[in-house]
Amino acid sequence: MIEFKNIRKSFGDKVVLDGVSHVMETGKTNLIIGTSGSGKTVLQKCLVGLFEPDSGEILYDGVSFTEMTQDDRKLLRQEVGMLFQGSALFDSMTVEQNIIFPLDMFTKDSSATKRKRVNEVLERVNLSGVNKKFPSEISGGMKKRVGIARAIVLNPKYLFCDEPNSGLDPQTSMVIDKLIKELTIEYNTTTIINTHDMNSVMEIGDNILYLAEGKKEWSGNSEDIIFSKNERLNEFIFASKFLQDAKDMRMMQARGEISEDGEILENPTNGAGDKK
Ligand SMILES: Nc1ncnc2c1ncn2[C@@H]1O[C@H](COP(=O)(O)OP(=O)(O)OP(=O)(O)O)[C@@H](O)[C@H]1O
Ligand SMILES: [Mg+2]
Repeated sequence: MIEFKNIRKSFGDKVVLDGVSHVMETGKTNLIIGTSGSGKTVLQKCLVGLFEPDSGEILYDGVSFTEMTQDDRKLLRQEVGMLFQGSALFDSMTVEQNIIFPLDMFTKDSSATKRKRVNEVLERVNLSGVNKKFPSEISGGMKKRVGIARAIVLNPKYLFCDEPNSGLDPQTSMVIDKLIKELTIEYNTTTIINTHDMNSVMEIGDNILYLAEGKKEWSGNSEDIIFSKNERLNEFIFASKFLQDAKDMRMMQARGEISEDGEILENPTNGAGDKK
């Protein structure tokens, strides 16, 4: 679990995060959503210590990150896996060398042990046998999977993914989402995902934080989003007519006005709204 309280971060006179608080849950896919420039990446970077927040508190399973010494932060860093936007693989290194990198940094394991671990994680992301390939020789979806393999190689307790679906087709995006979700359950990680992808919001939105103008505008899960009356959130999520229609259908089903197949029913019940 990662809890943060009242995080503020400005660059010059530009306020990016204006007192954001939330709890990211263990074993769940926790999403940060919001328009481009709303501060999703800045928030993730504050949480992992790549940016120092101007004020506020961050607790990793109850332990204050903000008050940790550099040595303690280094220890914690071993428990944090990161999938960067665009995968951020080292182009001059093979897939295997990319994945071994964190093992070299944080362990004293023998070469044989490290190679065994590389093969395990490659198998886990369904990429056995690509060890000797260079990033330029594999597809975008494969690069993401190598990025995920590298992020999980140290058995992280906390997994951060910044836009894991960017640049991928819808089908490959779903494969990546499913993989991240499965790994979250398998490793019981606190997984934090920045996303623009509305499909991800609906499929893996266990706990969603919606940022707008530097503040938490709304939070809830993928089911709550359907019934939310928050106008700003609705404009952002259900931006297209198609998605608006899908939301209306889902609400009518919940109120018992239509069946799962779209058939009109009698005796509707009341649907839910935002929880208070
Ligand atoms: N190192 C930096 N120096 C100055 N300003 C920055 C820096 N990093 C981010 N910002 C500013 O902070 C704001 C939020 O940026 P951020 O990258 O967090 O947005 P985002 O929500 O991740 O957007 P996107 O969806 O496009 O990735 C932007 O206005 C950006 O220009
Ligand atoms: Mg970003």
